Amino acid sequence: MAASYDVIIIGAGAAGLMCGAAAGARGRRVLMIDSADKPGEKIRISGGGRCNFTNIYCGPDNFISQNPHFCKSALGRYSAQDFIDLVNSYGIAWHEKTKGQLFCDGRSQEIIDMLLSECDKGGCDLWLGTQVLDVKKGTDGTGGEERFTVVLEHQSVTADAVVIATGGPSIPKMGASRFGYEIAERFGLDIVDTVPALVPLTFTDSLKDTLKSLSGVSVDTTISHAKAVFDEAMLFTHRGLSGPAVLQISSYWEPGDSITINMAPGTDLTARLKEDRLARPRISPANWLAQFIPARIADSIAAQEKAQRLADLSDKAILNLSLMASEWRVKPAGSEGYRTAEVTKGGVNTDALSSKTMETRSVPGLYFIGEVVDVTGHLGGHNFQWAWASGVACGEVC
Ligand code: FDA
Repeated sequence: MAASYDVIIIGAGAAGLMCGAAAGARGRRVLMIDSADKPGEKIRISGGGRCNFTNIYCGPDNFISQNPHFCKSALGRYSAQDFIDLVNSYGIAWHEKTKGQLFCDGRSQEIIDMLLSECDKGGCDLWLGTQVLDVKKGTDGTGGEERFTVVLEHQSVTADAVVIATGGPSIPKMGASRFGYEIAERFGLDIVDTVPALVPLTFTDSLKDTLKSLSGVSVDTTISHAKAVFDEAMLFTHRGLSGPAVLQISSYWEPGDSITINMAPGTDLTARLKEDRLARPRISPANWLAQFIPARIADSIAAQEKAQRLADLSDKAILNLSLMASEWRVKPAGSEGYRTAEVTKGGVNTDALSSKTMETRSVPGLYFIGEVVDVTGHLGGHNFQWAWASGVACGEVC
């Protein structure tokens, strides 16, 4: 006889563990299954090992989805403060780094241990190192209710409800897979095209050559693509651009598009240059620019004009210099892909799901939560907040 549970959760990552805790607290007999040898591996490596576990300003505007309203219900019912209360109840020390981003003072493992302890309270079983191969729904031939069968390598397990919490394909070397999408398609659900997001962008070969001297330089920017605008730091790398600014804009960028980067936000460089051409005529353009942007970037921009002193700059040259610094339009060659992407944009089409419970409308008892769903957060703790909130929304009913 196959083992039987009320709920089987596939994936013991952020969303799966949170869902298990909520379902276990209701007295449901829960089995969580994960192919990895340890639960919550992405939590462990997140936030540089300190887990940026939520964001105090988290709201629907921090998410990208084909249906921007879908995330509202779950986020509204389980807020950042709810998760902070849970973290506080375990005495886990934390701090705000910047822009509402909350990190553990210690290691991310504290968050994993907290979630495991919540799952333990509800008596959840956890099978690790166990790959799920398939999920089926049907009767056992005796005319009873339809149940789910979860197929493993050497056995099958049955349940009334199955929750898919298998995340997206980013960071394949951690066992990330497209399994959730495959199951969704098997049950007739649509997948919104998936792409790597929160990912560094790469230069064309010629730009790589021109800008190689800037590798390692970081600069505060306002970065934009169409209506998306972020004020964050950007980092030049030996392959292209990275840092929070670029990770954020990468979620909006599409191949062939340009992004616009202002490396001197808040300063009208053209006006200031014209003033100082009169007031400080002998200063070199590179030294002048270095008041506003890192010296290595200033040198590289100033080298585009022959003038040795501000006095020698024509109006056109002033405009050129200031545009290069404050309105740099760059067309990335591509992105670093799933190998380094923090998340996957796209996923199970939310049209198929209830925003209150995460249950599939056409397949009662089948739920999708966390990153596998077409809800992608900005950088800064929003993706975990979605994992917690969608996990609770589902765990309270499944
Ligand atoms: P998650 O990927 O966490 O879990 C899915 C689980 O399913 C995995 O444990 C996997 O092994 C398992 N699985 C997959 N297929 C299976 C199968 N067939 N059978 C059994 N098990 C299977 N976010 C944030 O808010 N703050 C942060 O600081 C960071 N930092 C960060 C750093 C890095 C390097 C990465 C890669 C990502 C982040 N993120 C983040 C994003 C965050 O980690 C991510 O959004 C959540 O982990 C998603 O949670 P899920 O539970 O949906 O998937």
